[in-house]
Amino acid sequence: MTQRIWNFSAGPAVLPESVLEEARENLLSLGSSGIGILEHSHRGKAFLAVYEETVALCREVGNIPDNYKILFLQGGASSQFFMIPMNLLPRDRTADYLVTGAWSEKALEEAVRFGGTHVACTSQDRNFSYIPATCSFSPNPAYVHYTSNNTIFGTQWAGMPPVPASTDTICDASSDIFSRPIDISRHAMVYAGAQKNLGPSGVTLVLMRDDMIERGSKDLPTMLQYRTHAKNDSMYNTPPTFAIYLVGLVLKWIKQSGGLTALGAVNQRKSAKLYAYLDQSRLFKGTAALDSRSQMNVTFVTGNAELDAKFCSAATKAGFDGLKGHRSVGGMRASLYNAFPEAGIDALIEFLRKFESENAH
Ligand SMILES: Cc1ncc(COP(=O)(O)O)c(C=O)c1O
Repeated sequence: MTQRIWNFSAGPAVLPESVLEEARENLLSLGSSGIGILEHSHRGKAFLAVYEETVALCREVGNIPDNYKILFLQGGASSQFFMIPMNLLPRDRTADYLVTGAWSEKALEEAVRFGGTHVACTSQDRNFSYIPATCSFSPNPAYVHYTSNNTIFGTQWAGMPPVPASTDTICDASSDIFSRPIDISRHAMVYAGAQKNLGPSGVTLVLMRDDMIERGSKDLPTMLQYRTHAKNDSMYNTPPTFAIYLVGLVLKWIKQSGGLTALGAVNQRKSAKLYAYLDQSRLFKGTAALDSRSQMNVTFVTGNAELDAKFCSAATKAGFDGLKGHRSVGGMRASLYNAFPEAGIDALIEFLRKFESENAH
């Protein structure tokens, strides 16, 4: 087999090797069924067993209360940007948005089409390099929406934003879902594209409280109502069967790795190592404010765009892939999702040191 290299991609991203190996086995025959996982009907016994197991594992690993549905939707997290206001924001109400990066901006842009919006905080003034310390909420928002981790800018809410109690809070957790414990019960809804921490692209995990599902507008196309998917176990139409299967394998891997508390500690240690190096480097420096640093996406620069480009090209040649920063911000970004091995961070730090010694004056 071709040698695997260090993959720092922001998503789709590295998956646990044991998961890929198990999936490979099941491509030709799922268990002893004689039919590969890609070829099984979503209505058949074999796939339904996969689906049931995935839902059960998700509930267990994520500690998801019984009054929340676990849905597997399509159209990416980006489709949630419009489905949420379409279902939950009446014309005469206001939804509050915490704008901490490009993805929250996109979510807000969609909400504006459906009802009133209020920006409760924004860090746009310093190119989204920090998480605001305070928010100012509208009197009675239909919901509050925030992005727990800002994939492009390398910032992350350390915990829940200061939302007033009993406000329905919705979280786009696309880039840090299940990377640390999360209190689902303090949210009305949590959603995430699977392709960073949970599996392949093509499926979006939606965790939604029952009353929010019921509150949704009934005056919408069938596929755009959450209740359709809730009532039909995400199988109103053909679901992304392979993606759901793979999410199940990743959840099993998370459970075997000790669950979210253990994984959270590992993720904290992984990013801390890289930040510690950056903080003492004479060449590289982190771009996010110290108290807002992401454990998932570590963004850094040399301060010289040409040198950044030289670094990225040298890194690629040395077997470190995906380190180029998002096209909208430049610089570098190391995405260290759940499945990214600690040994890859040690190797990157060694490479950064070498580049520094050759290029710092
Ligand atoms: C925080 C966040 N939200 C939403 C998205 C968009 O996800 P999708 O490509 O699944 O629509 C991304 C993609 O990187 C993201 O990082």
